[in-house]
Amino acid sequence: QIPVIIDTDPGIDDFFALMLANSSDKLDIKAITSVAGNQKAEIVTKNALDIASYFHMDCEVAKGAERPLNTPPQTAGHIHGENGLGNLVLKTEMKTLSPDYAWDVIYKHAVKENGRLEIIAIGPLTNIAIALLKYPDLHKLIHRIVIMGGSSDIGNTSPYGEFNAVADPLAAKIVFRSGTPLVMVGWNATMKSKLTPDNLEELKAIDTPYTKDCSFLWDFVLKAYRSSDKDYIVLSDALAVAYVLDPSVMECKDYYVAVETASSLNMGRTVVDFDHVCKDKPLNCSVGLEVNHAAYLNLLKEMMKHYSTQ
Ligand code: BDR
Ligand code: CA
Repeated sequence: QIPVIIDTDPGIDDFFALMLANSSDKLDIKAITSVAGNQKAEIVTKNALDIASYFHMDCEVAKGAERPLNTPPQTAGHIHGENGLGNLVLKTEMKTLSPDYAWDVIYKHAVKENGRLEIIAIGPLTNIAIALLKYPDLHKLIHRIVIMGGSSDIGNTSPYGEFNAVADPLAAKIVFRSGTPLVMVGWNATMKSKLTPDNLEELKAIDTPYTKDCSFLWDFVLKAYRSSDKDYIVLSDALAVAYVLDPSVMECKDYYVAVETASSLNMGRTVVDFDHVCKDKPLNCSVGLEVNHAAYLNLLKEMMKHYSTQ
């Protein structure tokens, strides 16, 4: 089993990422850490607790950063709703929050796992940046960070900026410069994991105690996408988890990636040196480029089937 921490701002696609992670015995989820992003810290922390309890996840849930390091907070209520979960109220018991902050929980598990811990970062990178700054030896203790964030092509928040990177560009810069092995599941990669209404029907046809709520969330996102003439949805964060479960889901290549923190137009853009023009720079990131859609959809189906037999 791979010991993982999921750093998240739930978020509808975060919900599905957590659901997918919990469905596989390949992962040993040590903690869920919340970070302000899709909604304010208070809301996403409650959602993290609720989701953990809803799926009976036996792991620590810790609160993280309330705001980005040095930029004004941004949220994404237009996609995720006022409560971050499409205004769905999960019927579940309230789990207790860890007494420790996200960055301390990350360090604690990194030390315990002694180089084996993987972080799946599916929100702005604020908590990870704080952890790396607070604990200078942390980068040597983490096996890798799989980041849903950034893009090596177009963005979703600005022409070339993806939400998680744009929401805290300085944090992203700190993480990309940290020397920790990184995988970037960027917006461009997740655009190759589009789920069509037909794909969603296939998933909805698998009966589980969760199917009704899942269908509600998929329909909520589909409505938001359709309002900008797109007849599909993307569950970006779930692709990051899928890649950890099955690396054949996404083809990656190593590049030097830097984060823009100075320009207003390209704030938070992850600049990928495709032609290796920065000769003195390290290949600091494995960049996701192609997606095996069939393998990804299959993992989502396996996830539903897992819950149907519980
Ligand atoms: C990312 O931003 C958030 O809105 C989603 O939860 C995902 O992590 C996509 O750009
Ligand atoms: Ca997210």
